[in-house]
Amino acid sequence: MTFDDRLKNVSIVGAAGKMGSGIALLLAQEMVTQKLKPENKNQIYRLHLIDVNESALDGLQSYLKSQLVKAGEKVTGMLRELYKEHADLIENYDVIDAFVNDAMSVLRLGTDLGAVKDSKIIFEAVLEDKDLKVSLLKNMEKMVSPDTVYFTNTSSIPISVLNKDANLGGRIIGFHFYNPPAVQRLVELISPESTKPELKDMALEMAKRLRKKIVPSNDIAGFIGNGHFLRDGLYAIREAKKLAGEYTLPGALYAMNKVSQDLLVRPMGILQLIDYVGVDVYQCISVTISGYLQGEDLKDDLLAKMTQKKVLGGQFADGSQKNGFLKYEKNRPVGIYDADKGEYKMFDPNGWSGEIDKKLGAYPQGFYPWRSLLMDPKKGEKLSAFFKNLNASDTPGAKLAKGYLKNSKSIGEFLVKTGVAKSAQDVNDILLNGFYHLYGPINDYV
Ligand SMILES: NC(=O)c1ccc[n+]([C@@H]2O[C@H](COP(=O)([O-])OP(=O)(O)OC[C@H]3O[C@@H](n4cnc5c(N)ncnc54)[C@H](O)[C@@H]3O)[C@@H](O)[C@H]2O)c1
Repeated sequence: MTFDDRLKNVSIVGAAGKMGSGIALLLAQEMVTQKLKPENKNQIYRLHLIDVNESALDGLQSYLKSQLVKAGEKVTGMLRELYKEHADLIENYDVIDAFVNDAMSVLRLGTDLGAVKDSKIIFEAVLEDKDLKVSLLKNMEKMVSPDTVYFTNTSSIPISVLNKDANLGGRIIGFHFYNPPAVQRLVELISPESTKPELKDMALEMAKRLRKKIVPSNDIAGFIGNGHFLRDGLYAIREAKKLAGEYTLPGALYAMNKVSQDLLVRPMGILQLIDYVGVDVYQCISVTISGYLQGEDLKDDLLAKMTQKKVLGGQFADGSQKNGFLKYEKNRPVGIYDADKGEYKMFDPNGWSGEIDKKLGAYPQGFYPWRSLLMDPKKGEKLSAFFKNLNASDTPGAKLAKGYLKNSKSIGEFLVKTGVAKSAQDVNDILLNGFYHLYGPINDYV
């Protein structure tokens, strides 16, 4: 069976979630593009979007419709070509309407897992819970044909474990999208020895069709992306605990978040990133990874406490940020969580947070925020000059930043040394493409 034949019937399980909905958008676009080709005129294409949450499925339907309009607007030239036989479609919006309607007609949304039965490719994007994933995979195995393959979006569970526990005979591969899947270019591909070679070829073809950049990772819990992110975030939290005597814990968390954004020239502070991913998701990944590693405990009591108190971060249905480590107004951080008091301490530039800013010290010469360097062709030179000055500085902020950079580098090197990543380049590629860093963690800056 060819890849194009497989693409005629695809399912996404967990389709209404953060990741599932983005994967659905990507697949809907690719499948309708195939369907509209003259040679596929009479072929039936089906994308089954399955989720246990019925009301979220309603939201998914409207989300996909609005996103398909936006996607159509960006490719009117291609759509005009696809619809060139349709003389009745005159204006651009006529063509976009036709595209959206054709794409929506490919979709079948529902709660019944049985809808997967004719699918030849199934994307799995349910919660990060091994027992849930294994039980779903086993159930699907009873319904699908023996050549059906699974693309799992797990962030941390080894693929070989899912393969063995659900008895899939090598028909599963790790296809780890980054959040949000429709925007992020990166897919981390985890193809352990157990994975059938033809499935790896399919995954490479899938990445091409969805215009994703693939970086391979070995099948070790957390893989490269979360292997780095988890240790990087825990470093910040543990450093903050050490500094609590001097800064108070909320003050130290504020300082680590600020240093990790400004002095490391990253798109957001580390605690804001954890909030974006979800404190609960982060906590869950830390527990999962710890379960597979020997001699390294990546669990943390503050994360456990916040999850228990339902301080979870993540996003509302309209995409706006929920409170987590930080409190948000109009998506901008305005306060920091005080876990002892169970309330937020609002930033006060004329009071406590202003005092911490002063204490961290002036930024070294050559400082530019991440956003202003993002598209700058001279960003390499500017970063080198800035980090040289940072190295020469001994303000408390610079010291924290240097410690942070060294730790991030040693995590990257550890991932290579322990065989999670095949090379330093792969580690850097994941951070550059999946996290939008301007430089990889394995660098000469520190
Ligand atoms: N959030 C991220 O930044 C991120 C990034 C990369 C990968 N991932 C991984 O993607 C997967 C999904 O994460 P998410 O953040 O989208 O979670 P989510 O909670 O937003 O979505 C999970 C979806 O699964 C559905 N679901 C739960 N049980 C189900 C069942 N039995 N059958 C069908 N649907 C079911 C839920 O209703 C929900 O809509 C996880 O494995 C996660 O580790 C997450």
